Amino acid sequence: MRAVVITRPGPADALDVRDVPRPVPGYGQVLVRVHATAVNRADILQREGRYPAPPDAPADIPGLEFAGEIAALGPGVRDWREGQAVFGLTGGGSYAEYLVTHERLLAGIPDGLSWTDAAAIPEAFITAHDALVWGAALHSGERVLVHAVGSGVGLAAVQLVRTMGGVPFGSARQSYKVDAAREFGLQDGVVVGSDLGPLVAQARAWGDGQGMDVVLDLLGGPYVTAGIECLRIRGRLMLIGTLAGREATIPVGRVLSSRLTIRGTVLRARPLEEKIAATRAFVHDVVPLIQRRLLRAVVDSVFPLDGVRDAHRRLESNATVGKVVLAIHD
Ligand SMILES: NC(=O)c1ccc[n+]([C@@H]2O[C@H](COP(=O)([O-])OP(=O)(O)OC[C@H]3O[C@@H](n4cnc5c(N)ncnc54)[C@H](OP(=O)(O)O)[C@@H]3O)[C@@H](O)[C@H]2O)c1
Repeated sequence: MRAVVITRPGPADALDVRDVPRPVPGYGQVLVRVHATAVNRADILQREGRYPAPPDAPADIPGLEFAGEIAALGPGVRDWREGQAVFGLTGGGSYAEYLVTHERLLAGIPDGLSWTDAAAIPEAFITAHDALVWGAALHSGERVLVHAVGSGVGLAAVQLVRTMGGVPFGSARQSYKVDAAREFGLQDGVVVGSDLGPLVAQARAWGDGQGMDVVLDLLGGPYVTAGIECLRIRGRLMLIGTLAGREATIPVGRVLSSRLTIRGTVLRARPLEEKIAATRAFVHDVVPLIQRRLLRAVVDSVFPLDGVRDAHRRLESNATVGKVVLAIHD
């Protein structure tokens, strides 16, 4: 089969499309013929040699999510049959014509969804849903601030907050990203520069002078400090990404006096049973809302498999709104 291979740690040029052996499904696994996948920041880190694949994933084929059809069943598979359209997360290897994954990590694709839209959903929506439900225990009526609001995860979070009865606010460095997020339910947004002081003032104003109930931090670094200052009493800060930095200053007195919760999350490194739990919650809570078109995939751009280098460059440009998709089979 054809697959994208990381030939050496490096820039987008380090990616190449090569012929590699087709994987064989083991017990409880299925072989998926991949129609489309999407690019994630973790793929870029892996390409640069800074985020090795977990032991159960191919070491040199990136890709954390997919939409495709079941091509073959391994022994012991009970829930699926050949030809069904499925999407989901995987620990790696989705930049390929075929992948194997555990049957419990699959979700059926709602009728009428295109392959490219389906591929843009799993990582963004499972990450955002898991952070809001498991991480932040969001309640109806609560106010949520989402940094990098035009990102894949950010736009999924905005939509999910609305469907959960919350009120989403957002920040971005580009005004067109705030404008795009409004189309997906953003209540209000702020364009930020290097000084995050105005962001804190705005977040407190949105929260009637008290601040936000929840902050989803996709950026890290100085956004962590600012996010703490944005929270009201008993607020929750979810740490999800580190694009703006892996270190932060914590105003400890404020965390104590406001009784704040700070929680981190990562999907890829979780053991199988926790990934299954996150997938089952997605199937139960999120997929029906996609079926009813209350939640929508946001696709920034679509590239063919042979255009994978340009797809990576597109995500790295920070100009995207939503997801960058790789189309593999029609
Ligand atoms: N914990 C997990 O399991 C998990 C799962 C999925 C994703 N993530 C993380 O979540 C984050 C968002 O992922 P995504 O795929 O949604 O991202 P994305 O679509 O690639 O968007 C990221 C956006 O972040 C902003 N940004 C980049 N560098 C920045 C910086 N130095 N300072 C401020 N803003 C910056 C840019 O938007 P602006 O131009 O608007 O600033 C960029 O477009 C990433 O850090 C990713 O690694 C974590």
